Amino acid sequence: MTEQPLTSEQLRFLAAAAGAAPSLHNSQPWRFRSVPDSLGVRVYADLDRAVPITDPDGRALHISVGAALFNLRVAALRLGRDPEVRLLPDEAEPRLVATVRLARPSPVPLPLGRDLFDAIGQRHSSRQPFANRDVPEAVLGELITAALDEGAVLSPLEEAGVRRVLALTHDAERRTGTDLARMAETRTWLRPEKPAADGIPVSALGPQDHDARVPMRSFTSRTQPTTASQRFEALPQLATLTTHDDRPADWLRAGQAMERVWLLATAHGVRVSVLHQAVEWPDTRWGLREPGEGPGHVQLVLRLGYGPPGPATPRRPVEEILDLTGRAGAAERGTS
Ligand SMILES: Cc1cc2nc3c(=O)[nH]c(=O)nc-3n(C[C@H](O)[C@H](O)[C@H](O)COP(=O)(O)O)c2cc1C
Repeated sequence: MTEQPLTSEQLRFLAAAAGAAPSLHNSQPWRFRSVPDSLGVRVYADLDRAVPITDPDGRALHISVGAALFNLRVAALRLGRDPEVRLLPDEAEPRLVATVRLARPSPVPLPLGRDLFDAIGQRHSSRQPFANRDVPEAVLGELITAALDEGAVLSPLEEAGVRRVLALTHDAERRTGTDLARMAETRTWLRPEKPAADGIPVSALGPQDHDARVPMRSFTSRTQPTTASQRFEALPQLATLTTHDDRPADWLRAGQAMERVWLLATAHGVRVSVLHQAVEWPDTRWGLREPGEGPGHVQLVLRLGYGPPGPATPRRPVEEILDLTGRAGAAERGTS
């Protein structure tokens, strides 16, 4: 059975869900376009929204677009459609990172195990201190399985691993803080006063750790603290997300895995923040690998725990990220 062409309203629904994804500095580097027969969506990287000094290879950009792609898949299932994804379908068009065919009804049972749609709107970065409370093994197990299903390895770290990753993140954070070009670039994504549709509002930033154990990213600079420091959890629950290779397709898989883990964690009441600093320098990134864990490229460090949900951050309006001009006129007339 083939589904009807997507209506403009359905395309807006899909793009809005995709656009709610997390992205480096809330740069939202994505665009969406209907396929000509309106039975799918093309997902593009918006290179004008790159963060080139911090992310010279576009790795974090692809992770962000991968997260948006995962949200699109979740929203498609909510519409009753089975998303068939092709990553990087056209070598001649590098900005086209995926096509998602939505021509078939969604299978039963749901391929993701549960409906994650409501978690899309509830998920935020939580940069506040977490409680000294363990994330249950059973929940960590579900998160590990979710990442594996997306082709990535989530490794919750034991104490020695946490201390190693914290030390590397401190080192990277210190380096970043003294790199004037990087700090200037980061500041261009901070939104100190006026509300904006992208970037990070100052209200979404958290405190620094009073005991200097958890190196939260300083988006301003060491000399300009935005809020008083607070005591963070004694031993944070950190997890690395690793892929076998380190090419654009792997970054897209990592982004989908990150978002699946993050939405599932949200559904379980577990908060997440990203500690990305050590991944941004080649040597500290290399040190993030678990000794003895075989080959692999760490794409993300996630901090998991229980605390405030974090505030909602702004998103660009759907009209800015969705291009409806590719739609076949017949499909539009027949269905809208
Ligand atoms: C690849 C990537 C790297 C990120 N790095 C950091 C980071 O180092 N520190 C941080 O606090 N947030 C980090 N974030 C979270 C983004 O700042 C956040 O997703 C964005 O501001 C939107 O906010 P939201 O997650 O609450 O929707 C990162 C997100 C992504 C996808």
